[in-house]
Amino acid sequence: MNIHIAPRTIWLTRHGESTANMAGVVGTDMPLTARGAQYAKQLASFINDQPQGPGSIWTSTLQRTIQTAAPMNRATNALKVLDEIDAGICDGMTYEQIAEQMPAEFAQRKADKLRYRYPRGESYVDVIARLDPFILELERQREPVLIVAHNAIIRVLHGYLSGTSREDVPHTPIPLHTVIGMVPKAYGCDETRTVLVK
Ligand code: F6P
Repeated sequence: MNIHIAPRTIWLTRHGESTANMAGVVGTDMPLTARGAQYAKQLASFINDQPQGPGSIWTSTLQRTIQTAAPMNRATNALKVLDEIDAGICDGMTYEQIAEQMPAEFAQRKADKLRYRYPRGESYVDVIARLDPFILELERQREPVLIVAHNAIIRVLHGYLSGTSREDVPHTPIPLHTVIGMVPKAYGCDETRTVLVK
């Protein structure tokens, strides 16, 4: 995966910790925890301290990303294309529950995380296709942008920007409470990671 875009920073971040992260469940639309809200405040200071702040801020339509962007007090766009991978019938379950109640599904995902599609949900391949038009939009932007989204979504966007192979994309570590700055160069990007809440 590779794209060619103007050299300005693209900041990528997951939302702050949500109550779903605390419970270890996939999917859902749960609010931030107190720690997650602390990250939202730190992120606002980090972004407001940048000499050239973002021209656009994009979130998903899920409340945890909207709450994460709120303390910046800037105009934001909530886009459905940035919503987390759809876990279908597994939405709201922990990985342990999936392994216990649907062992075949769990084993298939483990064997091929890139292509495995949750029943009535999505695969990483589906998410890559879903984000394709968004990447074109990102290419058109000339100013810095900030994207506040989710684990699978940031993995795929990071994969496009860094030129990571599709097979590796579902395994890229994208920790919470970390801003990833990507500055496009001839091939791939210069990448910096800043942890704002430990
Ligand atoms: O656990 C948080 C989360 O964003 C889930 O909502 C989502 O299903 C998951 O991460 C994606 O990560 P993985 O593909 O590794 O399960």
